[in-house]
Amino acid sequence: MKFYILTILPGYFEGPFREGVLGKAVQRGDVKIEIINIRNFAEDPHRTVDDLPYGGGEGMVLKPEPIVKAIESVKNNEKKQRVIAMTPAGRLLNQKIVRELSEFEEIIIICGRYEGIDERVLEHFCDDLISIGDYVLTGGEPAAIVLIDAVSRFVPGVVGNRKCVEEDSFSRGLLDYPQWTRPAVFRGIPVPEILLSGNHKEIRKWRMMKAIERTLKRRPEIIREDLLTEEEREILNQLKAKMEK
Ligand code: 6GU
Repeated sequence: MKFYILTILPGYFEGPFREGVLGKAVQRGDVKIEIINIRNFAEDPHRTVDDLPYGGGEGMVLKPEPIVKAIESVKNNEKKQRVIAMTPAGRLLNQKIVRELSEFEEIIIICGRYEGIDERVLEHFCDDLISIGDYVLTGGEPAAIVLIDAVSRFVPGVVGNRKCVEEDSFSRGLLDYPQWTRPAVFRGIPVPEILLSGNHKEIRKWRMMKAIERTLKRRPEIIREDLLTEEEREILNQLKAKMEK
């Protein structure tokens, strides 16, 4: 899978794609990243990429010409491509959107800066607008890294264990169960006894209960009862009844 990143801050991406699981995937060639400097497509002597907003107001707006020329330089009708603008005015990214995006061969990502991108670029040259959360960043660059990281997990070979990808928290509307590792007692705090019992049947059930419990407490809105097993639904109802007491 290939990602093009269109940005006026190419240096921003020097670290993130060299590290960890994603860095390895890039080295192997399972994930390809090409950084495109929007400024290279500005044709005036000053290489201008931004200008004042029509109608007045704060800040600068990214001009349409250099961005559209940058998009056109990587457009290829032979490939299944998606052009995405990263902007806080986009639709909120979630695991369903991530999975859908992983079906494309190439994703062209435009990073917004300043007060915004000329609306004609967003309306006429992008397939999708995406935000990563309800807070404001100084630009779309960190959001592009988040998007690429999440989508890359679905590329075969990137995450060693497919089961980890398919069964992760948000796919089933439940947070993962909590984890502990050695030592058995850390600064006086013990690991839950059941995990040391060796009783795998009881451990499985306990983990299920913990996953549902913390989801109810922290993220009740993500629970999809229709995706739960009979056993999970039963635990959910018991916990709910207990919480109402
Ligand atoms: Cl994609 N861009 C900016 N500038 N801020 C954001 C965002 C994107 N997503 C959340 N906040």
